Amino acid sequence: MNKPYTAERASLLKTASGVCAAAALTIAVALQPAHAADASNGKVLADSHNCAACHGVNLNKPVSPEYPKLAGQHADYIYWALRQYQMGTGNPNFGRSNPIMQAQVQSLSERDLKDLAAYVESLKGDLVEKK
Ligand code: HEC
Repeated sequence: MNKPYTAERASLLKTASGVCAAAALTIAVALQPAHAADASNGKVLADSHNCAACHGVNLNKPVSPEYPKLAGQHADYIYWALRQYQMGTGNPNFGRSNPIMQAQVQSLSERDLKDLAAYVESLKGDLVEKK
């Protein structure tokens, strides 16, 4: 049964929305990267993890057509793609299930992924935006 909309309920609602705004702010602050992504560390990681073994020289010459070209792709897309491989099949809504790439990213931290993404974006590549 719905209660009539009273002043008391209105003030309760105001409090609730205030709490929500505060929570949203806290989350927004928590999501801010603690550091700017470091593309040079991304290069170190890409080299030590042998990303070029499949994605090719400068991550721009895949050794086989089923390996995507990465160089120049937007960092936020690359970061999210890598996170999705980490989630894998454990997250049916957002995870990416490719077992090859899942294996590449398991040992990487959030920060590593951001650095890798910044490195990929910094590379000159053949990816183009067609208008
Ligand atoms: C053994 C081969 C192999 C290695 C090594 C490898 N990858 Fe991949 N990568 C693949 C394959 C295959 C795919 C396509 C997977 C799919 O269909 O989801 C892929 C996809 C990706 C994607 C998604 C691209 C897109 O457009 O959605 C990213 C990002 C990526 N790799 C980054 C990396 C990084 C960074 C490394 C090194 C840490 C790496 N890969 C190492 C084979 C490899």
